[in-house]
Amino acid sequence: MGRLAGKIAVITGAADGIGHAIAAGMACEGAHVFLSDIDDAKGEAAAAALRAAGHTARYIHCDVAEDAGIAHLIAESVRQTGRIDVLVNNAAIAIGGMPVYEMTDEQWHRLIAVNLTSVFRGCKYALPHMIRQGRGSIVNMASAQGHIGLDGWTAYAGAKGAVMAMTRQMAVEFGPQGVRVNSISPGTINTPMNEKVVAQLGGKLREAWVKMHPIGRIGEPGEVAEAAIYLASDGAGFTTGIDLRVDGGLCVTPRYVPDLL
Ligand SMILES: NC(=O)c1ccc[n+]([C@@H]2O[C@H](COP(=O)([O-])OP(=O)(O)OC[C@H]3O[C@@H](n4cnc5c(N)ncnc54)[C@H](O)[C@@H]3O)[C@@H](O)[C@H]2O)c1
Repeated sequence: MGRLAGKIAVITGAADGIGHAIAAGMACEGAHVFLSDIDDAKGEAAAAALRAAGHTARYIHCDVAEDAGIAHLIAESVRQTGRIDVLVNNAAIAIGGMPVYEMTDEQWHRLIAVNLTSVFRGCKYALPHMIRQGRGSIVNMASAQGHIGLDGWTAYAGAKGAVMAMTRQMAVEFGPQGVRVNSISPGTINTPMNEKVVAQLGGKLREAWVKMHPIGRIGEPGEVAEAAIYLASDGAGFTTGIDLRVDGGLCVTPRYVPDLL
């Protein structure tokens, strides 16, 4: 029996990268997964591939920047299955690589909408169902950048720091009702997001990333998925309010700080 057998899990930003690895990993552990994304072609294909492998997976379009999109995602998942056991607020975008004084208000508001307001809304719509059920697990995707400083990423770090603070608050508030709320802080992970960052800031970044992580490499999406599976599972039944760093040691030792800008 899988660690998530019979659980209903909803994952945002699940067409690619870490979200896709989480959806696939949770499906392999027996969860009925709802993948959601704005990339419908990739999302549908990912869900179809999981079904072809014998898992239970469906795709629902959801732009996490839109209140109605998240409301629909949660309501539709519950309508189809009657419950929601796990919500992974994963979707986010990387806007940065510039000094904070060069960031426009438009960039700031977009980043906050996709990376932070989305977490508020996901929790807002999922919590009433989880409270009614008397159990549930929310996993919010934070970042090593919510812990440490790196040139050019003030707004992104601010949003991720807020995700961790909100995670702690909700863990305290909803623990008595059986809902656990945790976050994960990945270090640098091999995903399309970072391909875009390298394209923006230059190839020397790859070498810098390897040097920055004491473990001597960047991480793989499946390694973050393992943490999400654990936090979602009953094996983490006494774990709430934590931020689980999956960062190859990045946050505990600044071995190498590159000159990025
Ligand atoms: N990759 C890393 O090194 C890293 C490090 C720390 C934290 N994270 C966090 O992990 C999470 C996943 O990152 P990733 O690297 O897999 O990203 P990614 O860009 O590789 O994949 C993100 C997915 O989210 C989708 N998406 C983008 N905007 C969306 C929106 N408005 N609504 C719904 N879906 C949307 C994309 O289509 C894509 O499928 C994010 O929260 C990110 O901040 C990533």
